[in-house]
Amino acid sequence: MIPKPKAISGKDVAAPIPCPDVTIVVPTYMERRNIETLIERLQVVLVGVNWEVIFVDDSSPDGTAAIAKELGQFDARIRCIRRIGRRGLAGACIEGVLASQARYICVMDADLQHDENLIPQMLNVLQRNECDLIIASRYMTDEPIAGLTGRREHLSRFATLLSRRFLHITLSDPLSGFFAMRRDMFDDIAAKLSPDGFKLLLNIVLVEGPHLNIIEIPFGFRARHHGESKLDTRATLDFCALLLSQATANIIPQRFLLFFAVGLSGIAVHFLMLKLLMIGDSNFIYAQGAAAAVAIVSNFWLNNNLTYRDQKLSGIDALRGFALFVLICSFGFVSNISISDWIFVGDKAWWLAGFAGAVVSAVWNYSVSAALVWRR
Ligand code: GDD
Ligand code: MN
Repeated sequence: MIPKPKAISGKDVAAPIPCPDVTIVVPTYMERRNIETLIERLQVVLVGVNWEVIFVDDSSPDGTAAIAKELGQFDARIRCIRRIGRRGLAGACIEGVLASQARYICVMDADLQHDENLIPQMLNVLQRNECDLIIASRYMTDEPIAGLTGRREHLSRFATLLSRRFLHITLSDPLSGFFAMRRDMFDDIAAKLSPDGFKLLLNIVLVEGPHLNIIEIPFGFRARHHGESKLDTRATLDFCALLLSQATANIIPQRFLLFFAVGLSGIAVHFLMLKLLMIGDSNFIYAQGAAAAVAIVSNFWLNNNLTYRDQKLSGIDALRGFALFVLICSFGFVSNISISDWIFVGDKAWWLAGFAGAVVSAVWNYSVSAALVWRR
């Protein structure tokens, strides 16, 4: 029961404005040209519903947030959270939901690929208590999907297949970005959700799956209106890291796996460079030094753009970060050599010694650079 506002010393107090029944949470990055159309469509399809929309924009350089706030001047149901210094689809959705006090939330993309006509039906199902979570699925038909190019569709279907096989998920589209649920349920699990990556729904299902009553309904994933997709090969790599991390019961963090993969790529880069440099009659020591330098630059660049892309360093920060990274990795290198030497002398198993040295230095490089170079 909502308490009535009290009259203070005989003065009238304005009546409260009812809170919306549903908050549509829309993560945006570079969606300037889609915002207005999306709002127009929501206004049409949600007639008779008490709704609001919260755009969560990561300071898109194209001024998406400014457009949303400008439109919000004319309609208080249009809100925008502008985040600074952060990137990431899942994190943006989480913050949008946390800012809501409606009974239900619905997460959807800004680029008009999700069919807004489904929202009233999704709400109805929730209001009738038929489920806790309702997912609009792209894969309940065998038709080719308009919104995905051939390669993207294969990748996406493959990722879905992997999550079904390895994570024992029976949903047809656990990676959908279009779903609605009770807000209080989301609030209960919010602290356990990862802001990294794009698979918020999968994360919710993994955290809370057995306790949730889930319904899926089909929809036709439309082609993008304006702009381009931000989910690329990096998103797929991210997803593979999630699967691996799950396979170790989350003992090994997803980021470490990416960091480790980057480290392995560094070895490949090193040997490739060394081979190239040794084609001529080069001095081995110089070639080895140059190859190591290229590998370390490549490792830093990959970690900055892949492992830590949500905290990507640029400009002078990147230079400072790189200098620190080199310093940290040289300590890692020394510990690698000393530990493997120690094991080798004691045990004589060269492969065990080499492996142990590599793992210890990887853990060192990872934890120290997480604390000093890409600290949150
Ligand atoms: N705030 C914020 N920050 N929003 C982002 C970011 C980010 O870093 N990256 C993407 N978005 C927004 C986009 O502006 C868009 O509204 C929505 O998130 C989806 O991004 P797209 O780049 O359009 O993704 P997609 O269409 O390629 O991917 C689709 O499939 C994925 C799973 O395969 C979407 O439906 C995703 O939601 C879905 O997870
Ligand atoms: Mn899209």
